[in-house]
Amino acid sequence: MKQTAAMWKKTVFCLLGLIGMVILLAATTAVFFLALEWSEPDAAQAASSASPAQAAQSSLNTWEFTGQLEDWRLLLVNNTISMPKDKMPDLETVGIIQVDRRIVDDLQAMLKTASGDGVELTLSSGYRSEERQEELFQKAVEDNRFLGMNLEMAEAVAAESVARAGHSEHNTGLAIDFNGVLETFDETPEYRWLQRHAYEYGFVLRYPQEKSELTGIRFEPWHFRYVGQEHAEKMRLLNLCLEEYVTYLTAQQNHS
Ligand code: DAL
Ligand code: ZN
Repeated sequence: MKQTAAMWKKTVFCLLGLIGMVILLAATTAVFFLALEWSEPDAAQAASSASPAQAAQSSLNTWEFTGQLEDWRLLLVNNTISMPKDKMPDLETVGIIQVDRRIVDDLQAMLKTASGDGVELTLSSGYRSEERQEELFQKAVEDNRFLGMNLEMAEAVAAESVARAGHSEHNTGLAIDFNGVLETFDETPEYRWLQRHAYEYGFVLRYPQEKSELTGIRFEPWHFRYVGQEHAEKMRLLNLCLEEYVTYLTAQQNHS
């Protein structure tokens, strides 16, 4: 009898202990989540503590084009924005290509330094007329049709690598394709040199791999775009492609 009473006592103690532990655990969890909620910074705090690149990125999850900026170097032309008819460049010939004459000095300085560093950059394509661009686009469509795609698909896939007439940066005279437009160009010392130094002469890699959803164009290691040294440095620092950078500057202008 005594033994049974002792056993009951033990069981009751154990149960009470267990209930106590559960209450303690629940209380600790509640305090933890409350503390977490209180310590969550608001948006303004978060922005002020983020790096410039993070702050710029966070406001650019989607880019919104509200019009061309005044600066000719930032002319934005892509799959959705066409080349403005009144911005036809004044062209100058460099080697076998033509470019906007305002970029010639920086381009030649870059070629000279690269050559001095033992890196041969060759110019494959610069300015293109709308007619030439249309030919290239139709050729890409034909190639895709040959692979068995229907017309709609063939055009959509072509547009990821060849812009439609009037939608190519090559219409601006501010874009250059280097060294024969090779898919493997990113494995070459020439590409690595450009990655390290192009911005010093005002050029940026226009279609980086990780930005293809924003640019609408798949990775093109050979295609560089002139934006001027000051912008190229900022775009590099903030890790922004031209779509993002134009949006970023527009937002800054609207807030000042
Ligand atoms: N390859 C680039 C996107 C162009 O055709 O302009
Ligand atoms: Zn190109």
